[in-house]
Amino acid sequence: MTERVLTGITTTGTPHLGNYVGAIRPAIKASLEPGVESFFFLADYHALIKCDDSDRIERSRLEIAATWLAAGLDTNRVTFYRQSDIPETPELTWLLTCVTAKGQMNRAHAYKAATDANEAAGEDIDANITMGLYSYPILMAADILLFNAHRVPVGRDQVQHIEMARDVAQRFNHLFGKGRDLFVLPRAEIEEDVAMLPGLDGRKMSKSYDNTIPLFEGGPKALKEAVARIVTDSRLPGEAKDPDSSSLITIHDAFASPAQKDAMRADLLAGLGWGDAKQRTVELIESQIGPMRARYDELMAHPERVEVALMAGAEKARAIAIPLMREVREAVGLRKMVAVLRTQTTAPSPTKLALPVFKQYREADGRFHFKFSAADGTLLLQGGGFAAGRESGQIIKRLKSEGIAALQGAPVEVLAPLPQVEAALTALAAQED
Ligand code: TRP
Repeated sequence: MTERVLTGITTTGTPHLGNYVGAIRPAIKASLEPGVESFFFLADYHALIKCDDSDRIERSRLEIAATWLAAGLDTNRVTFYRQSDIPETPELTWLLTCVTAKGQMNRAHAYKAATDANEAAGEDIDANITMGLYSYPILMAADILLFNAHRVPVGRDQVQHIEMARDVAQRFNHLFGKGRDLFVLPRAEIEEDVAMLPGLDGRKMSKSYDNTIPLFEGGPKALKEAVARIVTDSRLPGEAKDPDSSSLITIHDAFASPAQKDAMRADLLAGLGWGDAKQRTVELIESQIGPMRARYDELMAHPERVEVALMAGAEKARAIAIPLMREVREAVGLRKMVAVLRTQTTAPSPTKLALPVFKQYREADGRFHFKFSAADGTLLLQGGGFAAGRESGQIIKRLKSEGIAALQGAPVEVLAPLPQVEAALTALAAQED
């Protein structure tokens, strides 16, 4: 069986080199492994929790989507979509919210950190905390459970959220599964061996430390300038240098082949100047990300191409989400009224419940017609006069799936009040579901 691997990318900020090495590159590589089905999505509903600047939200979504596409994500292989294009996600969020213990949410790290900070500042513990932040883990659980993901690669800070998703899935299965598992229990996959890139000052590369190297923005010039600012010791060219004394070499090594790594170390020990080492690093990084940057710039100049890719992704994603949601709604009791009636009437009459029927027939003139009658035999619709049987079949199919809306412009005579026709079509659809 293929395993489903799913992860979300919160769309705040602009991707930097650390994001590329620590998240984007390994995720794309993993998506090429055989036997996995990958789902990557832009967690833009989550971004709204952290940011109320609509222009930044818009820009960051585009930048992050363009980055992943430019970095080589193969949208034929993976399902790449925006969270906000999947209406089933907030729908499932509510159903999960109804079975999530409030106490468990009180213990969620992000919320705890915010209340702790408020407490320390002598404020009301919930000052400035939105329900969005509080319910963050439930939205995340919906992201995961909606696609029955087995594995969720995340950073350490997200592990608690995956465990919460597991708990709520378990509770849901227990309450509504009637012995079967509606949801797969997901497991967190911590990216242990993925390089955590240091920033200019040697601490973890992070926007909050203002020590990042841009990935694409600013072009090769910005890359060069950032690398020039990496802190090194003051040894001069000609002096032997400790390769582990600067984050420059860790950054270099994140892009280097084993032979290139060895050469850099040997050359530094032999006195290579820091300036030359930086130049070599810039050239190495640029040789790999330069071609991606060209694709990135192209996409940023044509956002509609990104839009098209994401819409196609949403369609693929919803082909999974819609049927799952249908089952889940059914499981919690949000069912068609007709289906309820059917289960209650099985006892008195063992014979099949009478249903409305479509009948197709051919007249002497060779043309195709159909009739639609209610369960009690009342003739409701009569249509046709088609040269091909396929045409009348198509109208019937549309009537079944779209209801009376399909009557619009169709060569069909309505022989009973419309509500009666509608009720019969609904009853038939419910039966065939
Ligand atoms: N909260 C995650 C983060 O900040 C992003 C995210 C949202 C996510 N939904 C998800 C990750 C579902 C994995 C699965 O990194």
